[in-house]
Amino acid sequence: MAKMVSSRLLQIPESPIRKLVPYATEAIRKGIKVYYFNIGDPDIDTPEIMLEVLTNWKQKTITYSRSHGEPNLLESLKNYYNKLGHTFINIDHLLVTLGGSEAISMAFLATTELGDEIITFEPFYTNYNSYAAVNGIKIVPVRTFAKDGFHLPSRQEIEKKINKKTKALLYCNPNNPTGTVYTKKEVEMLVSIAKKYNLFLIADEVYREFVFDNRQHTSILSYFNKIPNQAILVDSLSKRYSLCGARVGVLCSLNKEIMDGAMRIAQGRLSAGLIDQLMASKLAKVPESYFKKVHREYENRRNVLYKGLLSIPGVSVPNPEGAFYCIVDLPVKDSEDFCKFLLTDFNLNGETIMIAPAAGFYATKGLGNNQVRIAYVLKVEYLKKLIQILKKALPAYNQTLKSRG
Ligand SMILES: Cc1ncc(COP(=O)(O)O)c(C=O)c1O
Repeated sequence: MAKMVSSRLLQIPESPIRKLVPYATEAIRKGIKVYYFNIGDPDIDTPEIMLEVLTNWKQKTITYSRSHGEPNLLESLKNYYNKLGHTFINIDHLLVTLGGSEAISMAFLATTELGDEIITFEPFYTNYNSYAAVNGIKIVPVRTFAKDGFHLPSRQEIEKKINKKTKALLYCNPNNPTGTVYTKKEVEMLVSIAKKYNLFLIADEVYREFVFDNRQHTSILSYFNKIPNQAILVDSLSKRYSLCGARVGVLCSLNKEIMDGAMRIAQGRLSAGLIDQLMASKLAKVPESYFKKVHREYENRRNVLYKGLLSIPGVSVPNPEGAFYCIVDLPVKDSEDFCKFLLTDFNLNGETIMIAPAAGFYATKGLGNNQVRIAYVLKVEYLKKLIQILKKALPAYNQTLKSRG
C-alpha cells in the first residue's frame, strides 16, 4: 500500500523523556512505587495567589482569550521584564504562547525556510528535534563536553558549522539538560557571531531564575540593542512558578516582522487558555519570599544530588550551575537499557526511579549512550532514595548483563 502519511511526520522522534512511560505504568501496576526524575515537572507548590484564581472562579463561561494574550498578563509580563532592568520592553514585543514550546516552534518557523539549519549545542533540550522536524528544518549540533562543564567551545568550532543554510543560533541558558549557566563572555561571543554572520540568535531562558552559587544570569535581553532584529527570547512560566500544566509561555523580540508574523500564527490558533493566563497574570503579586524559598530548595537539592552521585562508584557529573537538570556518566554501555531495567527488573524495597536516557539529547549518533539526564524536581527525601537505588541498581544491572551473556 502507498505511504499515506508525510515523511515529516515519520521524522519526528520519540521523546527520550517520555518514551519509557509504558514501562513505568507497568511497574506501577505491579505495585512498585516509581519516582519520576525523568521530566522537569516540579513538586514545588504553585504560588497560592495563582491557585486562588481557581478557587475564586465565578465566570459562567470559559471564553477564548485574545490571540496576543490576556491584557492583564501582558501588562504583568511587561512589568516583570522592566523590573529586571529591560525597561525598553513593551507589550508589542511580547506574545503569550502555549508554553515556551510554542514559542520555540514559532521562532523556528519565523526564521527558516524548509531545509534550513539552526545551530545549537549538544547535548540539548531534546524537543528542539521535534520542533525542527515539524518545521522541516535541521538542527546542526556543536558538541560540548562534561570535562568543560558543558560550557561553549571556541568561536572557531561554532563558526565551522555555519554555511548558507544556517539561519539561527539557538542556546538554552541556564541549560537543560546540562545545568550549565553560560558566562557573560560566552553570551557575548554568541551575540558577536550572530552579528558577524547576520544570523538570528534564539535564547531559551525558561530557567532564568535558577542559577546557583551566587552566579549572575546574563540574559539575551541585555543585548537586544546590539542585534535588535536578530535576537529572539523564548520564555515560560512553567518552571518559574511551578505552572507546567498551565501552558503559558512568551515569545519576545524587537523585530516587528517576527512579532507581526507570530501574531498571525497566534490568530490561527485562536488563543492560549483563559484560566491559565489569569492564573499567570498574578505573577507580580507572588512574594519575593516564594522565590527565595524555591531557590534555596533547588540549590539544596542540587547539593544533595551532586554529592550523592559522586559517592557512587563509576559515576561522574559536573556540578550543575543552574536549571534543575544534570547529565550523568554511568558505568554502563547502554543507558536506555539500564533505564528500562530500572523499571522492569529492579526495585529497592518496592521502589524504583524513572530517569531519561541521554542519547536523545544529542543529534550526533553514538553520543550519550552511557549517560542519563536526571531532573532534580522532587524533594530531598526522594533524591536520597534515587542515590540509594542507583547505588544498588548499577551492580545488579551489570550482574544481569553477565547472566544474559
Ligand atoms: C529548555 C526548555 N525550553 C522550553 C521548554 C518548554 O516548556 P513549556 O512549554 O512548559 O514552557 C522546556 C520544558 O521542559 C525546557 O526545558
